[in-house]
Amino acid sequence: MSNQLDKVRELIALREEARLGGGLKRIESQHKKGKYTARERIAMLLDEGSFEEIDMFVRHRSTNFGIDKDSFLGDGIVTGCGTIEGRLVYVYAQDFTVFGGSLSEMLASKICKIMDQAMKVGAPVIGINDSGGARIQEGVNALAGYAEIFQRNILASGVIPQISGIFGPCAGGSVYSPALTDFNIMTKGTSYMFLTGPKVVKTVTGEDVTQEQLGGATVHASKSGVAHFAVDNEEEGLSLIRKLIGFMPQNNLEEAPQLVCDDPIDRLDDSLNDIIPDSPNKSYDMYEVIGTIIDNGEFLEVHRDFAQNIIVGFARFNGVSVGIVANQPKVMAGCLDSNASRKAARFVRFCDAFNIPLVTLVDVPGFLPGTGQEYNGVILHGAKLLFAYGEATVPKITITLRKSYGGAYCVMSSKHLRGDVNYAWPTAEIAVMGPAGAVEIIFAKEVASSEEPDKTKATKEEEYRKAFANPYNAARYGYIDDVIEPRNTRFRIIRALEQLQTKKLVNPAKKHDNLPL
Ligand code: HXC
Repeated sequence: MSNQLDKVRELIALREEARLGGGLKRIESQHKKGKYTARERIAMLLDEGSFEEIDMFVRHRSTNFGIDKDSFLGDGIVTGCGTIEGRLVYVYAQDFTVFGGSLSEMLASKICKIMDQAMKVGAPVIGINDSGGARIQEGVNALAGYAEIFQRNILASGVIPQISGIFGPCAGGSVYSPALTDFNIMTKGTSYMFLTGPKVVKTVTGEDVTQEQLGGATVHASKSGVAHFAVDNEEEGLSLIRKLIGFMPQNNLEEAPQLVCDDPIDRLDDSLNDIIPDSPNKSYDMYEVIGTIIDNGEFLEVHRDFAQNIIVGFARFNGVSVGIVANQPKVMAGCLDSNASRKAARFVRFCDAFNIPLVTLVDVPGFLPGTGQEYNGVILHGAKLLFAYGEATVPKITITLRKSYGGAYCVMSSKHLRGDVNYAWPTAEIAVMGPAGAVEIIFAKEVASSEEPDKTKATKEEEYRKAFANPYNAARYGYIDDVIEPRNTRFRIIRALEQLQTKKLVNPAKKHDNLPL
């Protein structure tokens, strides 16, 4: 047997050892918890056979508490690159079978290495989190490792897309890397994210909560907004990441891939000509409008369960990837509040950072009034959305379907915030406020002194409605470019996108802005 063959055999044996992570028993225990291993996850995420692993032979170099006697090839994380639909992505997956996927100095350096590489070549990074947090035996070196990752997340933000899957524990400071990335996907029942666990909560606040109640997928997807998606299982999560990547460019200097579209661009939908109810107090479902106008009804909704009074997500028009932002009249009459504002602001900023045009569908009666909102800082949160639209330089197409009142009119991608193409349906009502509210203020005296106050009120409301509850007053000043037939909305949006393909707009040079936080 030649010396060289022996060495090749040794390499093969080492690779096999590395692929076993923390060993068969721990792999079994991972499977029993309903979770896949790091390598199984990567195999499901990437195009078959495309994964190129690096740093398989990395080991930790800590000696505290005798940990040097316990060392595993790869040190608790699998890193490398591969492709999704043929497009390059960098990936890392924490390996819970090795020290509970806990983060060591060397493990962190593996993540940093692929993040640096992704930045050099301009490709997305996808991280799968499943970890017991900082490796306790490593002390400050583990903390340093986290901070090195955070720094890279920050510099990569807005340069390459960053996506986090949370498929297991993610607690303490380790939550901050996912929080810095663009999208978080959590699995229901097997993942949780919190800064301090139930035991600490009990000690400090006396509150009794389970891990699920404190930071499970459902909680973060519906209450806190930390998770953009809550999925039933890992397969669903990984396939969602593949879909999500399909709507994005590789980096901030490129465009998202344009697909071949088999849905006719001039498809008319007569149902849209009759979708707005006669009564302004009645609602309709904005999902129906979205589903009708986009390519093949395929909508990838982001933050579906959070702040449902606004809808955000990705779709395509004639194969072009766009971000849709739409008020939902079915929930809280579609008004804007703190959560809806920050949800939409974050989405608008993502789209703008990655050259994804924005299509905004407006039916908004205004901002939600009340102490709850004011104490919660709705002024600042609303300003975030205003800021996001105002700074965005991507093509911005706005369709006003019905109400567009007050400050919300300004905010929702109006002409004055550099909206490129602003259309309205004939049912649009663009004014400072709705007829009832307006009459109470400007005709208060007439109504009070009238012998028939109800009749006077109704007459004045009708007068106001005629003057303002239509799109033509705004169109008269050029704030609306055209009033369009609702059934033709898809075609008009596609035409507008074609027109704006070569749009160039540059904001003034600055170190960075001072977004109201
Ligand atoms: C070292 C760890 C570890 C850690 C788990 N392990 N967490 N090793 N450092 N942080 C090891 C265990 O010793 C065990 O080793 C294996 O991983 C699996 O752990 P189990 O406890 O058996 O698994 P399970 O019952 O599923 O419980 C998972 C867990 C629990 C809930 C995550 O392990 C846990 O509470 N871990 C500690 C969490 C924590 O407090 N981390 C520090 C957070 S503070 P063997 O050899 O038996 O397989 C933090 C600060 C970061 O992260 C700050 C950044 C700025």
